[in-house]
Amino acid sequence: MGGTFQIDEAQFIEQARQFQLTDRTIAVVKNNAYNYGLEFAVKAFAISGIRAFATTSVDDAVKIRHMCGDKVDIILMNPTTDFKRARMFNLHITLPSRDYYDAYKDELHDIHIHLEYAGLFNRSGLSSIEELEYILNDMNESDLELNFTGLWTHFGYSDEFDGIYETERGMWEQFISDVLELGIKPSIIHAQNSASYVRDGLLDKHSHVRLGIGLYGSKPYADLDDTDFVQSSTLSAPIVQFRRLTAGMTLGYGAAFKADEDCTVAVVDIGYGDGVLRARAGHECEIGGKTYPIVALMMSHMVVLVDDDVEAHMSVYLYNKKLRIDKYTHLGVGANSEQLGALNYQSLGREIIYDV
Ligand SMILES: Cc1ncc(COP(=O)(O)O)c(C=O)c1O
Repeated sequence: MGGTFQIDEAQFIEQARQFQLTDRTIAVVKNNAYNYGLEFAVKAFAISGIRAFATTSVDDAVKIRHMCGDKVDIILMNPTTDFKRARMFNLHITLPSRDYYDAYKDELHDIHIHLEYAGLFNRSGLSSIEELEYILNDMNESDLELNFTGLWTHFGYSDEFDGIYETERGMWEQFISDVLELGIKPSIIHAQNSASYVRDGLLDKHSHVRLGIGLYGSKPYADLDDTDFVQSSTLSAPIVQFRRLTAGMTLGYGAAFKADEDCTVAVVDIGYGDGVLRARAGHECEIGGKTYPIVALMMSHMVVLVDDDVEAHMSVYLYNKKLRIDKYTHLGVGANSEQLGALNYQSLGREIIYDV
């Protein structure tokens, strides 16, 4: 077997407990819960006290309902046309545009609807208050009653510090005021991801924060205290064999590594096919508590320059409490969620440990 993604369950729960805003946190569990595993993460978040979840997949939303029963709110952030399951499983759905409303307005009754605002990020959502006015006028004329339970947007700039986040936030706050002035009173107003929550606390008029990466123990931006974001996972792999190289010998595709002097390298059973980002190979790994340079990364193998302290039975760590995923994000390897999302669940082993 190749590498292993190991999660310390107690630490995972502890991190979620300490980062969440009690009774006001929607946990983002899209993409297999940032690859911590949907079932594992939802159950652990529920134990930590979280009572609301957001995902992009109807299938995942239904699984969450099966896992948690009717005591939690489940919000679909992608628009869906699966109104049957939305109703049956009491899912909160997103209304992303006037076009969607026009196409499906007769299907939307008796479903919790969250109006989405596109804002500066502009991936999806209503572009202006006029779109909403159009919808309200049409509802009036068609004698249609819809259940606008929620209002939300996504902050795409909350980890930027050049003023653009303030612009984004200002646009959104104006939109909330405009919506309230139209007489709509959503009980759930949510926008803030981890970075926004850390910067601002719960914003005025908001009922919930909608958190991902901080709950999973990674820092949303660099200038934060490690102790507030404790990573519960490690990624490690066994050594397959050692190779002795003499000065001038090369190794790997395109002679990726050339020995400057006689040396030993360890060939490790993990590669980019298991989801290790290629840029991660520009940095170190850890073996027996010491760091060693990675000199090549291939599809199923990684090559590490080692010394005599390294023995065949030792595990090679790419990520652990010291080699934090967020550390490499901030060194430019790729976003936290990019590394987590890339992990290959087909090829990596997975272990949950409970540290009592
Ligand atoms: C719509 C939406 N909300 C919330 C989040 C959570 O963001 P974060 O993981 O930075 O807390 C994400 C993450 O990508 C998202 O796409």
